[in-house]
Amino acid sequence: MGAKDAVSLMDYHLCRLTIADLDEICVIEDAVYTHPWTRGNFLDSLYSQHEAWGLRRLDGRLIGYFFAMLVLDELHLLTIAVAQNEQGKAWGLQLLKHLFELARRKECVSILLEVRVSNQRAIHIYQRFGFVQVGRRKAYYPAHQGVREDALLLQLILPQHEGGQ
Ligand SMILES: CC(C)(COP(=O)(O)OP(=O)(O)OC[C@H]1O[C@@H](n2cnc3c(N)ncnc32)[C@H](O)[C@@H]1OP(=O)(O)O)[C@@H](O)C(=O)NCCC(=O)NCCS
Repeated sequence: MGAKDAVSLMDYHLCRLTIADLDEICVIEDAVYTHPWTRGNFLDSLYSQHEAWGLRRLDGRLIGYFFAMLVLDELHLLTIAVAQNEQGKAWGLQLLKHLFELARRKECVSILLEVRVSNQRAIHIYQRFGFVQVGRRKAYYPAHQGVREDALLLQLILPQHEGGQ
């Protein structure tokens, strides 16, 4: 059964995330990241009115989420995650599709993101989705024992339509 089939079989809600969702978000974040965002990081992002969206199963369970920041006509993906037991079922692809739709609605010209050089799975998914590398940020991420890791800067240019969207 292909990744896409998995999604079409499972109904879900796309929902805007708020402070009320932080407990669930932090459980996922702490489980899937070696250097997770803190509750404070998420609060700062929500207080800054960043775009925060999640996928919930019909029984209400949070499957995954993304936080993104609108900078003029560019949407900057800040974090994206799918619950450990839900990974590999195309939910990440679904989140990227909603991120893309959000960028279109906001009339953005591109989406930008940083990803750890070592995060081959995410890099593969982003490249499959159409992101290309446009830069590299030296020692951008904390890594083990105080060593730092570079980030690849990836960008997706949105197709522009004559006369706006
Ligand atoms: C990265 C992450 C969000 C991906 O979510 P996921 O649910 O595991 O990924 P998916 O199952 O949706 O994988 C996407 C699939 O869609 C494919 N895909 C991506 N774009 C596609 C497109 N446009 N058309 C068809 N398929 C596409 C991918 O190749 C992948 O297929 P594969 O599994 O056969 O390689 C998730 O693994 C995660 O939370 N990881 C930990 C946190 C993290 O690293 N986040 C990213 C930080 S930058």
